[in-house]
Amino acid sequence: MRFSIAGGTRLSGTVRVSGAKNSVLKLMAMSLMANDQCVIRNVPRISDVETMKGVIEELGATVNWSGDTMMVTPPERLGTEAPEELVRGMRASIQVMGPLLAKVGEVHIVQPGGCSIGHRPIDFHLKGFRAMGAEVEERYGYVRARANRLKGATIYLDFPSVGATENLMAAGALAEGTTVICNAAREPEIVDQQNFLNLMGAKVRGAGTGQVIVEGVKELGGADYTVIPDRIEAGTMMVAAVITGGHVTVQDVEPEHLGFLIAKLREMGAGVEVSHNRIDCFADQPITGTTVRSMPYPGFATDLQPNIAALASTAVGCSVLIETIYSNRFHYLEEMRKMGAKVIIEQSTAVIKGVEKLTGASVTAPDLRGGAALVLCAMAADGNSIVDGVELIDRGYEEFERKLSGLGARITRIE
Ligand code: EPU
Repeated sequence: MRFSIAGGTRLSGTVRVSGAKNSVLKLMAMSLMANDQCVIRNVPRISDVETMKGVIEELGATVNWSGDTMMVTPPERLGTEAPEELVRGMRASIQVMGPLLAKVGEVHIVQPGGCSIGHRPIDFHLKGFRAMGAEVEERYGYVRARANRLKGATIYLDFPSVGATENLMAAGALAEGTTVICNAAREPEIVDQQNFLNLMGAKVRGAGTGQVIVEGVKELGGADYTVIPDRIEAGTMMVAAVITGGHVTVQDVEPEHLGFLIAKLREMGAGVEVSHNRIDCFADQPITGTTVRSMPYPGFATDLQPNIAALASTAVGCSVLIETIYSNRFHYLEEMRKMGAKVIIEQSTAVIKGVEKLTGASVTAPDLRGGAALVLCAMAADGNSIVDGVELIDRGYEEFERKLSGLGARITRIE
């Protein structure tokens, strides 16, 4: 599947942000721990959510998804074998490990491999489960973990991993005693998970700080919960406004989650006006180059690094991007070169010299966020572009082309 994009339109209007992919996937996994039905609202129609739906259905859950509301009813007895094909297709499937281990005491899952953005091991997750008393075997590319009942433990993460923090919070929720996760990730999605778990009857505190404390309880009930807005989608729409020289209001957003991007865009010369649930973004003066170092939250999100690269490609002067989270997140820059971007890549650093105008070209999305950045470049470029590999963009952006068309972009999907 591909997008055909005619560049050169200034985007204008209002766009509503969907629910956060990187939160809803985990909430779905955690619903497996409930004894009653969980209702999750503001669920985006994206293919990663379809995949997670498949994963939890294979484990026995009944899922009803209507509009943006999803109801998850766990079965009497959950399965323990995570479906291999789906897990291979989406790394976030490993987030069922903590819930299954805590609820049924066993999980068998294929080791997710590296992916197009670099190595992505799960050693922190496994180290945490072991510290909680689980027996973890890694053989022939699979992981099997077992525990009669997990025991609370103090776990130090070597890096504030989002997925490990979430998996261990889930595991701790039904463990015996208290689990303390030190050097925990501080992303807003972790806070969302804490709020959801606590509605289910868990006792979690500290999310959003570097130390999360989970006092285990015996059982969890259902919950009715609305997912936070997707800050990465919001950020992409903000950059879309600026890169096309337009003026866009991004609606139903949580500005507090985007402090790093608001500051960076202002530093580059963009206009950004913030009110309680909306952000206005516009370009009324030349955009200048910058330096961006991706970091764990509240630092600059690695998932928006490709968007800033797109903006830097037509900014005045040079920009330096330093990627500290992933080992190989610059594939999309090779594609941007086809559109005339001037880029030098040296290991985890990219130097981008802004050009006056990109030119349309035929490019291929190498991954989700890189793909979105190529769409941004195509909208700003002179002439027509084809962006291939739209399936990857569909993993994380709900109705991307409909939302962009609503702002005036000339973008069509070619099946
Ligand atoms: N890491 C390890 N060992 C582990 C876990 C992580 O070495 O056991 C390393 C990773 O290899 C990586 C770093 O730690 O270099 C950070 O990984 P983290 O665990 O924080 O990331 P994640 O949970 O796998 C989530 C998002 C990513 C986002 C990162 C960082 C989901 C489903 N995914 O991944 O989102 O980039 O946090 O913020 O929540 C995306 O949406 O496109 C995406 C890739």
